[in-house]
Amino acid sequence: MAYQNLISELKDNILYITINREKALNALNKDTLAELADVVAFAGKTEEIRGVIITGAGEKAFVAGADIKEFSDYTGKQGEELARSGQDLVFNAIENSKKPFIAAVNGFALGGGLELAMACHIRIASENAKLGLPEVTLGLIPGYGGTQRLTQLVGKGKAIEMIITANMITAVEAEKIGLVNYVVLQTDLIGKAEEILNAIKQRAPLAVAAAIKSVIASINETDGYDTEIKEFGKCFETSDFKEGVTAFVEKRKAVFLGK
Ligand code: HXC
Repeated sequence: MAYQNLISELKDNILYITINREKALNALNKDTLAELADVVAFAGKTEEIRGVIITGAGEKAFVAGADIKEFSDYTGKQGEELARSGQDLVFNAIENSKKPFIAAVNGFALGGGLELAMACHIRIASENAKLGLPEVTLGLIPGYGGTQRLTQLVGKGKAIEMIITANMITAVEAEKIGLVNYVVLQTDLIGKAEEILNAIKQRAPLAVAAAIKSVIASINETDGYDTEIKEFGKCFETSDFKEGVTAFVEKRKAVFLGK
């Protein structure tokens, strides 16, 4: 697909999305958000795609936040609409996707950039990455789910500290508090994401989707246990379940078809 602000490439069942506004440190302007909404929807409905890696162009930034230059004449109503549509079409759409999304955080992940990484299911950071939610330095607060997802990932105390001080943390600190899964050399970043997705690609796709849905239900639904029970039951109706059990009994590797 041809986009103005993203590079999107499908290879070996992995969709690679690169946010490509390097001169603006990959800041998310409206056009970029619209393109992200489109590519996230495409990933969800394209059977061939088994996982997605999101990164930023260049070596300096993943995403340095929402495009501050678009904010200057916003009214309260416009601000609310920006946050609501962004959450619905991009951030929640990623989190609720049936496909696993990995954020390969290759530098600054600030504001909406950290929120984008947090919407992904797994985060890997390069050693030079700096992460933070600096919105209060602009007289704002996070609006793409950052107050919620940071709290879920690192707990209330650290989340409040990071948000109200606006301080950035290093990749190593982020790993220590559970904000990122791994810290690697920048040159190893995409390779590490691929290694994880290549492992997931061997698993039953419908079970992977059911697992993501059930984990996310622990946060977004009142009874995540019930979601887990239902999703567990549904797995028994799949051909992949029969294949998985048969392969185990026959002592061979399962071949899953996503059915
Ligand atoms: C627009 C941005 C930008 C942003 C950087 N740039 N961040 N443009 N929006 N968020 C642009 C700069 O204006 C500059 O363009 C170029 O990228 C390089 O940035 P510099 O500041 O010159 O680089 P450096 O001195 O190395 O500082 C890097 C930085 C700094 C620390 C990351 O750029 C910075 O603080 N950026 C803003 C981070 C931020 O506050 N993010 C939160 C945004 S609010 P020119 O043309 O001048 O060369 C948000 C809300 C989300 O995300 C919720 C919405 C609902």
